[in-house]
Order: sequence, then C-alpha cells, then structure tokens
Amino acid sequence: MKIVVYPGTFDPITNGHLDIIYRAASLFDKVIIGILTNLTKKPLFTTEERLEMISQCVKDIKNIEVKSFNGLLVDFAKEMNAEAIIRGLRQVSDFEYEFQMALMNRKLCENITTVFLMPNEKYTYLNSTLIKELARYNADISEFVPNNILEELKRKFL
Ligand code: PNS
Repeated sequence: MKIVVYPGTFDPITNGHLDIIYRAASLFDKVIIGILTNLTKKPLFTTEERLEMISQCVKDIKNIEVKSFNGLLVDFAKEMNAEAIIRGLRQVSDFEYEFQMALMNRKLCENITTVFLMPNEKYTYLNSTLIKELARYNADISEFVPNNILEELKRKFL
C-alpha cells in the first residue's frame, strides 16, 4: 500500500490545495493530509476548525484521511508509514524553499521521498494569505475556495 502525506498549514484550504489532493489521491493508495499545529504565526483557524473544514471538503473521497501533527514532518510521515511527501509547486518562486525543505527532509529520513505536483495553472497565483486578505475586505473569492470554506471565512470576518 503506497501511503503519502500532504502536509501544510491550510489556513484555510483552497481549491489549489484540493487540486493537488485529487491528483495525489489518483496516484497513491492513501493520502494523509497533515495539518501543522505548532505554528509560530497564529493561524486564523484553530487546528480543530481546519481539521473539520478539510474533512468536509474531502468526505466523498475514500482514500483520503485528515490528521494534525506537531513537530517534524518526517516523524509524522514515519508514524503514518508513508513513503512519500507531496508538495505543490505553483511557480518558480516556490522552488527554492521547497527544494531546501525536500533535501533537508531527505537528509533527516532517506527513505521518504518528496514528490512535487503542479496544480492546474489557474491556481498558480492562489495562496491562503491572499484568500484571507480578500475575505477580510469582502471580495468575491467564490472561485478560489469551496462553499464550506467561504462560509467559515464569512463567519470569521463578519
Ligand atoms: O503550507 P505550508 O505552511 O507551506 O507548509 C509548511 C510545512 C508544514 C510543510 C513545514 O513548515 C513543515 O514541514 N513543518 C514541520 C516542521 C519540520 O519538519 N521542519 C523541517 C522542514 S525541513
């Protein structure tokens, strides 16, 4: 069974993340979405909220699980018996940080491989920080996030 971890902050999850998740779910037997909890930056949504929101988004796909983790990503991946870590690459500017992280993770654990997937190009400029900013000022973000996330963002910024 090929298990892969898709880690991130997901504050909140966007259609760009979901695009990566669907691609990963078609390539691997099981995808475990790992929500990082121990953030130095305070997220808008609590870990429990993010877990619930993401679970709602992927509830119809059988080979996806949603979990949260603290500490090192490679330790979480080992605990999940994952062979690989998925990261999304949207544009060249993502590459340097992702490359460093992938190589450091490989140094920490040689048998876990980072796999990069590219989302549909319509999501190249999408990120959670921009989504929160747009939501705060009541811009139309309906094409960037699923409906349940839209509702949760509205509740936060009401
Ligand atoms: O969605 P993000 O914020 O880009 O995800 C970053 C994430 C969660 C993948 C990264 O911060 C991470 O792996 N954190 C866990 C701590 C860790 O393992 N750090 C060493 C990375 S080489």
